[in-house]
Amino acid sequence: VYSWFVPVHKVEHPLALEALTILRSADTRPDQFRRVARRISMLLTVEATRDIETTPTTVLTPLGSTTGHRLARDVVVVPILRAGLGMLEAVLELIPAARVGYVGLQRDENTAIASRYYSNLPSNLEESHVLVIDPMLATGGSALAALDLLCSAGAIDVRVICIVAAPEGIEALERHYPGIRIFTPAVDRGLNDQKFIVPGLGDFGNRLYGTE
Ligand code: URA
Repeated sequence: VYSWFVPVHKVEHPLALEALTILRSADTRPDQFRRVARRISMLLTVEATRDIETTPTTVLTPLGSTTGHRLARDVVVVPILRAGLGMLEAVLELIPAARVGYVGLQRDENTAIASRYYSNLPSNLEESHVLVIDPMLATGGSALAALDLLCSAGAIDVRVICIVAAPEGIEALERHYPGIRIFTPAVDRGLNDQKFIVPGLGDFGNRLYGTE
């Protein structure tokens, strides 16, 4: 229902949907949660980078020469700490040359307002494909704060990859950054009083690290 008026790219690959189901299950323990978070992040990264440009290159096989492809532009991946770290390794596995920028945002437990406690971004963002990895797009507060930082640092091509999104978060991003692209396997019902996504999967960082 959201896909035609907001730029949400629903990733409905069966492997992603199965992985999401394991992540959602309250019975999934942190070791399996980490493995499956990594797997779904790879699938989402493949989709989010489907249209990035390549430049032709000549490659010599043992039997002759042929045309190959290299990524035309730099990729910068920006995990939103702490939960985004659960997706980082997967992106780097697929794009080993990616540069990594960090944005540390803490969500106030009562107001759900994100405040920045750390940021360190690579240079030349304007020439790069920037992938923001933020597993739970709830109010959109963290993603918006990250987008503000990235765009004021010059980023132009920014894609947000998340594992579960709420309509509220999608609308907030779309309102402030029309044209932003969001890649997710799920758009859930909405937020509860504590600004958690329902049904969601709980607190991603806690499930990943076994805290709380
Ligand atoms: N962050 C989480 O980890 N889970 C939610 O449901 C919302 C924000």
